[in-house]
Amino acid sequence: MGHFLGWNQLLFYTGAVVTHFVSAKPPFYDELLTLPKAVNFVGMIEKEWSESWADNFSTADYIAVIDSDVVFTSFVLPSLLFEPGPHGLRPIVMGHSAHEVFPATVLALRLVWVAEFMDNFPLVIHRQHFASLRRVLVMLYGAHESDDFDSVFVPYLKGVWEESSKSLAKLPECICFHSMMGSFLYHRYKEFYAWSIRHGHVKSLPAEHCCPRLRVAHHVPYWGMENWMARWGYHYKQLKFAIAWKSPASVGDLAYRQRSAALMFAGLCAVRWAQGNTSLARGRDRLVAINSSWRITDVGMLDAQHDLCVQGLALLEGRGTWEDRK
Ligand SMILES: *[C@@H]1O[C@H](CO)[C@@H](O)[C@H](O)[C@H]1NC(C)=O
Ligand SMILES: *[C@@H]1O[C@H](CO)[C@@H](O)[C@H](O)[C@H]1NC(C)=O
Ligand SMILES: *[C@@H]1O[C@H](CO)[C@@H](O)[C@H](O)[C@H]1NC(C)=O
Repeated sequence: MGHFLGWNQLLFYTGAVVTHFVSAKPPFYDELLTLPKAVNFVGMIEKEWSESWADNFSTADYIAVIDSDVVFTSFVLPSLLFEPGPHGLRPIVMGHSAHEVFPATVLALRLVWVAEFMDNFPLVIHRQHFASLRRVLVMLYGAHESDDFDSVFVPYLKGVWEESSKSLAKLPECICFHSMMGSFLYHRYKEFYAWSIRHGHVKSLPAEHCCPRLRVAHHVPYWGMENWMARWGYHYKQLKFAIAWKSPASVGDLAYRQRSAALMFAGLCAVRWAQGNTSLARGRDRLVAINSSWRITDVGMLDAQHDLCVQGLALLEGRGTWEDRK
């Protein structure tokens, strides 16, 4: 889906790459299976570990980390991901301070929690900062000369669980790469990034780090989820699990796909469409794309855009005439 909406452009303009993959099993995989606090999160822990190694799989200057349950709602223009700074381009990092999530993950890095950074996708990171984060973990949790990132990962997890047992958390916290990396970058490499932290005043963050920015993507499972829902026990449904349960005929599956499509429709509705190069006989180059001429599209395409606008925006705004029957 990301590809459809112009992921090529992000690669082309920024050299950033998507790294959402689960590579070879971590060397401590078997140990995870023996740890009661890990056993229900093994897949998740593996993913967070593999994201910490994302720089192994590309030579790009910037690496854009993204989850697979995210849809792009716009062409990914470089100006939406980067802004100029004293040390060259600064990736824009978004977060929110309103609600403390993954506090133990951050405390176990011996950092002060300022914000939750699994707030926006992609999280764009200077490639060399992956190695810096790994070095810090080795420094904190290494016990022997020969320790490396992989050998301190489980000790770090145990550190997180220890922190979370000190708090009122009912369950041991599952780590989060975005929280680890976001918090680390904020404290260690603040000037290499541009920060856009909602409700940052709650943590007394400087106002210049709290300006809103436009997003290029949406994390679909959390669409419509607000903090008050957790607080008041509202039965929010993360519809993607219906897919995980392999029940293709379920309402949840259909609703999840519909929400994803609506977000993309709405994104495509919001931008002006350009005329593809119709003199090219066939192939991808005829698609309407970011570098096409800016002649206004023909009536047929305007019609198609109108359809997307009607369907996408109606769903996003939560209005539907059939619902009114009640
Ligand atoms: C990344 O590369 C380093 C150095 O070659 C290697 O030690 C490490 O195991 C690799 N990690 C992954 C997840 O491939
Ligand atoms: C369309 O493609 C042709 C052939 O590559 C090229 O000569 C022409 O300049 C293109 N026109 C536009 C508007 O991009
Ligand atoms: C788009 O146009 C700009 C300006 O001509 C050019 O530098 C860039 O390479 C083009 N990008 C793509 C993806 O074709």
